[in-house]
Amino acid sequence: MNDSPHRSVLYKEIIHALQPHAGGRYVDGTLGAGGHARGIMEASAPDGQLLGLDVDPQALAIARRNLAPYEHRIHLAQASYTSLAAQLAQLGWEAVDGIVLDLGASSMQFDTPERGFSFLHDAPLDMRFGPHSLQTAADLVNKYSERELADLIFQYGEERDSRKIARAIVRARPIHTTRELVAAIESVSPRRGSFDRLRRVHPATRTFQALRIAVNEELASIEQVLPQALAALKPGGRLAIISFHSLEDRIVKDFFRGQSKDRVNPPYEQIYEAERKATLKEVNRKPIVPSDEETQHNPRARSAKLRIAEKL
Ligand SMILES: C[S@@+](CC[C@H](N)C(=O)[O-])C[C@H]1O[C@@H](n2cnc3c(N)ncnc32)[C@H](O)[C@@H]1O
Repeated sequence: MNDSPHRSVLYKEIIHALQPHAGGRYVDGTLGAGGHARGIMEASAPDGQLLGLDVDPQALAIARRNLAPYEHRIHLAQASYTSLAAQLAQLGWEAVDGIVLDLGASSMQFDTPERGFSFLHDAPLDMRFGPHSLQTAADLVNKYSERELADLIFQYGEERDSRKIARAIVRARPIHTTRELVAAIESVSPRRGSFDRLRRVHPATRTFQALRIAVNEELASIEQVLPQALAALKPGGRLAIISFHSLEDRIVKDFFRGQSKDRVNPPYEQIYEAERKATLKEVNRKPIVPSDEETQHNPRARSAKLRIAEKL
């Protein structure tokens, strides 16, 4: 795996959001190269602790190296953040002061051709973040019906040519490599060079994104982790989530909004739901986005949105 330094998106903003302090306990559920984790360790010196999770064994090995100066204060596990409650129980931690999730794929994963995330290199069509995922992208493109592929590419990729692309994929099957998939997509895309000038992205961008989200069940994972994260926080503890896709951001936003309102049943109506006090306070109602300077240095940060909530 490419070991080049990874620029953590919204780095300062994450540290500011979590306000790490000495003696605090923190979770980084998407460790990657450990950039945000390092900031948390520095800010919580000398004795703050961190649980770091990633499903990708290669990312974990790099993070372990990058975080070596803090090894006596960190606990790393190759595990999904969807198992957050179990991981905390295993450590014997009842509650934590802050949790960060920086969703999606890392630049290290995109930049490692043999992982199959990039349409710029020929490689087996894999796209799994970790070995726990049951299906590869090749499994999906070869097994799904044309209709299922079109829906997936439209929904997760927001690709308006989803039907055409799904038809081309089905025609080109079996597909085993990124190059074969790109060729199928390009066969129905107006090519100007290999980039679509009108949309300023490669015609395969959206289809690759959609497959990655499906292979790694990214949206379902976010839905699973949110209630666990809320339960794990101490009062005053903070949850900071960076998303890169509007569907991810919607899930986070709806959860934060829902939990930040008292749920009171109107008088004289049959009561179906237990009344409940708000459990969270939204720290920022509008998502925080990277500065122009950050996106200039790191184009991947372009679509990032940070939402922060505090447990009441
Ligand atoms: C954007 S990177 C994180 C970068 C990190 N914040 C840093 O500063 O270096 C996202 C990471 O989350 C991991 N990941 C994705 N889904 C996961 C899940 N369900 N559980 C744990 N890790 C996950 C990916 O393997 C990837 O390494």
